[in-house]
Order: sequence, then C-alpha cells, then structure tokens
Amino acid sequence: MKPWVSVLLMAFSVLCVMQIVALYSWLPNKYKKDLNSCLSIENHISISSRETLGEKFKQLTKEGKNLGLSKAELVLLLDQALRESQNGEVQGFGSKKEESIPFRAGTVDQKVVESIVTYPWSDISNPINPHDYELVINQPNFCNKDGLNKTSVFVLVLMTSSPSNFKQRDIQRKSCMSLSQVYGRNFLSLFLLGDSGNEKISAKVVEESFKHGDILQENFQDSYINLTVKIQMGMKWVSMYCPQAEYILKTDDDVFVSLSNIAQLLEKAPRKNYYTGYVYTGTKPLREKKYKWYVSEEQYPRTIFPPYCCGIGYILSGDLAPKIFTQSLTIPYIYLEDVFTGLCIEKLNIVPKVNPGFFVDKQDYDYCTFKRAYAVHVNKPIEMFKYWNNLAENTANVTCKVRMEHLRHRRTFG
Ligand SMILES: *[C@@H]1O[C@H](CO)[C@@H](O)[C@H](O)[C@H]1NC(C)=O
Ligand SMILES: *[C@@H]1O[C@H](CO)[C@@H](O)[C@H](O)[C@H]1NC(C)=O
Ligand SMILES: *[C@@H]1O[C@H](CO)[C@@H](O)[C@H](O)[C@H]1NC(C)=O
Repeated sequence: MKPWVSVLLMAFSVLCVMQIVALYSWLPNKYKKDLNSCLSIENHISISSRETLGEKFKQLTKEGKNLGLSKAELVLLLDQALRESQNGEVQGFGSKKEESIPFRAGTVDQKVVESIVTYPWSDISNPINPHDYELVINQPNFCNKDGLNKTSVFVLVLMTSSPSNFKQRDIQRKSCMSLSQVYGRNFLSLFLLGDSGNEKISAKVVEESFKHGDILQENFQDSYINLTVKIQMGMKWVSMYCPQAEYILKTDDDVFVSLSNIAQLLEKAPRKNYYTGYVYTGTKPLREKKYKWYVSEEQYPRTIFPPYCCGIGYILSGDLAPKIFTQSLTIPYIYLEDVFTGLCIEKLNIVPKVNPGFFVDKQDYDYCTFKRAYAVHVNKPIEMFKYWNNLAENTANVTCKVRMEHLRHRRTFG
C-alpha cells in the first residue's frame, strides 16, 4: 500500500472515530439535516436501561451544542432514532426498570428530557403541589410527525377520559374527534388517562394505544379527585411535546365538540393569553361535607373563586400550557380542575373571555343547539355518533333561528 493511501485511510478512520466519539459535533452546518439519519444507526445507541439512555442524552447534549441544535431538537432526534432502531417498540421503559410492557415506539422517559431541557418550571425547587408522576403511555412524536419540520398544529384537543371508557373513546374517534383538518388547519386529539388500578383494563389501554396512538397515561390513580392531576399532566405534556400548538381545547369524553365551529371562532381569536369558555363568576366554595363539590377552608380559604371556565370545554392559547403548569406547582391542590385552572389563570393576570357557545348543562340532542355550539355536555354520550350523523345529514334542509354569526356578536358580556 502506498504511504499516502495509508495516511489518507488513517485520517478517514480518525475522522470517523472522532465523529462518533464527538457525536457529530464535527458535522458542518449544512449536514445538520442529515443528522436525523445519522443518529438512527443502532450501533450508537444501545439501550439496556433508563440510566444508560440518560447518560447518552447527557453526552449528546454536551456535544450537540456545537451543532447549534437546541436541546429539545436533540431529544426529538434521539427519540426518533430510538424508534427506528427498535423497530417500532421499546421495551422496559416503565416506571420500574424491571417492567417490560412494550411501550409505544419512541417512548423516552419524560424525566430524562426534563433533566436536560430547561423549562419554565425548572426553577421551582419546592413546589407546594408537585406533580411527581410519570408517563406510562406517551406519544412523544404526536405533534412531530415530520421530524425536525414541526407539524403545524392549530388546535390540540385534550380530552379527559377514564381508562375503562373504551367505547366512549371510540365514539369520539368516529365523531367529534374524527376531523383532523378544518379549513386547512390541523386538529389533533389526545385522550388523557390515569391508572385504572386494574391489570386487564391497563393491558387493553396499552393495546388501544398501539392501535390508535392517541392516548397519554400517567401513573396516578384515575379518579374524580385526581382530575386536577390530569390537567397538570396535559399542560406539562403540551409544553414538552407540542409547544407549537396554537390552541388547546380541554374537554371531556361525554362532551360533544364542534371542531369546525371552533375553527371559525379561533380564526379571529387572540394568539396569546387567551382563555375562553362558559365563565362562572363569583362562585362560592361549598363548605359542607355532604356536597360532591365540597372544598375545605384549608384547601381554599378565600370566600369566592376567581372567574373560571367550566371544565366541560375551554380553550387556551398554546402559550398558556407551560405558564399554567408552572403556576400549578405553586397553588395548593383543589380537585375541581376547572377552578384550579382558573386559579392558575388568575395568577397570570388573565381575564377569561365569556363565550355563550359552550353548553354546560347536560342536554338531549337538539339540531339547532348542536349546530351552533362549540361544545355541549350531553345526557347520553353513547348516542353521540347518531348526533354527529344527524347534524351532517340535516345541514342542507334545516334553518335555525340563531346563527353562528349572531352568537359571535353576543359573546362580549364580560
Ligand atoms: C422539511 O422542510 C424542508 C423545507 O421545506 C423540505 O425540503 C424537507 O423535505 C422537509 N422534511 C421533511 C421530513 O418533511
Ligand atoms: C390520586 O392519585 C394518587 C397517586 O396514584 C393516589 O395515591 C390517590 O389515592 C389518588 N386519589 C384519589 C382520591 O383517588
Ligand atoms: C333533511 O334531509 C335528510 C336527507 O336528505 C333527511 O334524512 C332528513 O330527515 C331531513 N330533515 C328534515 C328535518 O326534514
């Protein structure tokens, strides 16, 4: 072999090793785009435990700075690489190391992400109301289906649901949540679940998540009292995995929502510090234990709640997710999730926008109400699919007295 060939080969191998060791920090800017495929090579990421992965992340972060990529971008890339290298499934990323439930592809422990990315809540060292739960079902790439090119998300629907409500979720998927584009804008919908405490149900939920990829679940017990925990989970998730969402609609699985009406409403709505729904003003906490909505003076010493939007459906501009989650850590726990969200909003000095298009009392189907509504709390959620079809069928031949336009003009009291 000619000496210059060996020198060249040596140079190449040195470069190659350096590239791997320095984790691509030598790549010139123009190759940044290729980093994605670069990272997807199995050899570089062998995972035996969460800890190993954490180390890998830390190493990558250190070196990745040279590439000018943000930490969040690196996390996303690694996540994607993981997904590809593991052929769709990652084993053993449960809250306990020995667990081997096959989690959704690309499930990277949220704590690992939090340990390397700085979030607005990173500074809060002694939270009054900590949120020490972990995602057991995550959809980290739900809002990033196009890799580094972030998918634009106009509205992200966060629908609370209880683990055993399989049928109701399917009805929602086939009706209200079936719209993924309205007027060329992207709508994405996710269900928020806690833990059922029942193995059979949990296994079915995992299966459902594989099939539909639209479930988030954390390891707190799913209960009415824990609804506020669920909202914290949603706000935190959006902050970490879908920060580009322009709006968030929080709703429940027994609520009929019209994404097309919401699309119209939001076309002209403020993009920041926006919080709208059916607003309760001057509500007093119920101090007698016999009530379902009892709140003790220790929990909440003030005599009235700040204005808040009823939990059946409210809309937030996306910028509020990290702000609300951060505030939520500093406010004593109240299980009334909508009041609690209102308290976070109050701390942010935001005034809720009154909107008469949210129908909070449980109702039976009525074409004209449903046609003009943004959200309706329904009496028989199991029939929602029927309502959905009826609305579509009658659109051409039924005229309602109050049209959306009138409704929108009326929504300015408050
Ligand atoms: C990302 O966007 C760039 C520029 O618009 C485009 O060329 C590229 O194909 C996109 N990549 C993906 C994965 O969509
Ligand atoms: C809320 O969740 C926590 C964590 O799983 C659990 O310890 C607690 O009992 C739950 N509360 C209720 C009332 O279900
Ligand atoms: C409107 O038309 C549809 C289909 O053409 C029909 O099924 C429905 O009954 C009509 N509604 C009313 C109120 O006439």
